[in-house]
Amino acid sequence: MSTIRTLTGITTSGTPHLGNYVGAIKPAIEDSRNEAIQAFYFMADYHAIIKIRDPERVHQSSLEVAATWLACGLDTDRATFYRQSDIPEIMELCWVLNCMTAKGLMNRAHAYKASVDANLAEGNDADTAVTMGLFSYPVLMAADILMFNAHKVPVGRDQVQHLEMARDIADRMNHHYKVGFTLPEAVVGDNVAVLQGLDGRKMSKSYDNTIPLFETEKRLKKSINKIKTNLLEPGEPKDADTSTVFQIWQAFADESRIAEMRKAFENGIAWGEAKKQLFELVNEELKGPRERYLELMQDPGFVEAELLKGAAKAREQTVPFMEKVRRAMGIRPLI
Ligand code: TRP
Repeated sequence: MSTIRTLTGITTSGTPHLGNYVGAIKPAIEDSRNEAIQAFYFMADYHAIIKIRDPERVHQSSLEVAATWLACGLDTDRATFYRQSDIPEIMELCWVLNCMTAKGLMNRAHAYKASVDANLAEGNDADTAVTMGLFSYPVLMAADILMFNAHKVPVGRDQVQHLEMARDIADRMNHHYKVGFTLPEAVVGDNVAVLQGLDGRKMSKSYDNTIPLFETEKRLKKSINKIKTNLLEPGEPKDADTSTVFQIWQAFADESRIAEMRKAFENGIAWGEAKKQLFELVNEELKGPRERYLELMQDPGFVEAELLKGAAKAREQTVPFMEKVRRAMGIRPLI
């Protein structure tokens, strides 16, 4: 049986929240336990500095993200778990790919276009505050992925375009050079890939609408109570499919409990009651990992050692692979 290589990254730009957990961390850890899968997970700290200029925040977030993955049960002997910046070959490959990436392709990237649109809407120059890092973000992401010849990349729906770009870039490389990059595919979970936040928009640091994954029980309860609902009274039927409370429920409950809650919505469950049950469900799953997380946050030496172990394992592949790429492109000793 041939193994499938799966890879995903989390940007170290903030504190992991429920959306990260449901959309990326939880499915990734399940994958890593699957015998047929070889999993690569990493902390995208070079991606973080594109947006975050506060060194303390990047550093703190790196510890938080790493501790989160370990606390959620990632087996670092099975999966390769590393920090992007510990693998210099990724940066080398990034440059190589930059040389093969059409500028026109990057012009179409949603993240870049959103910045341009926001600038124009405010009457600014189109490129105000747009850095080359932001512009070529998808190239670095392609380097992350192509470096390990990943087949499958679990991501949120908002990242699908980046995967298409990585395929384009890989295709172009394969046409010109004898390297043979694998064409990666995005894997987007069905209904819970992008969790909604407190205000009903996508849960995201940039909207300030997140529920931090390992906040205290008390705060978790408070956050859940803050989820925006409508003004329907107890007894009035409620629409499950447009409710953030129900959407988060779906992400944590099994099939039968999802069906029960759907019925409860139809029967007019009070918002307060639905939120109480949601808190209990989420807290039950997070209680154990939360304890472990708090321990790890007090033991950065252990977390660092785990990351260095992962980097050493990753570089067994990246060092010879980058050598092969360089040679294929004509960069090799003269004799
Ligand atoms: N851009 C991704 C995000 O914001 C993070 C990321 C960086 C990533 N490199 C990656 C995800 C490679 C998958 C594969 O979510």
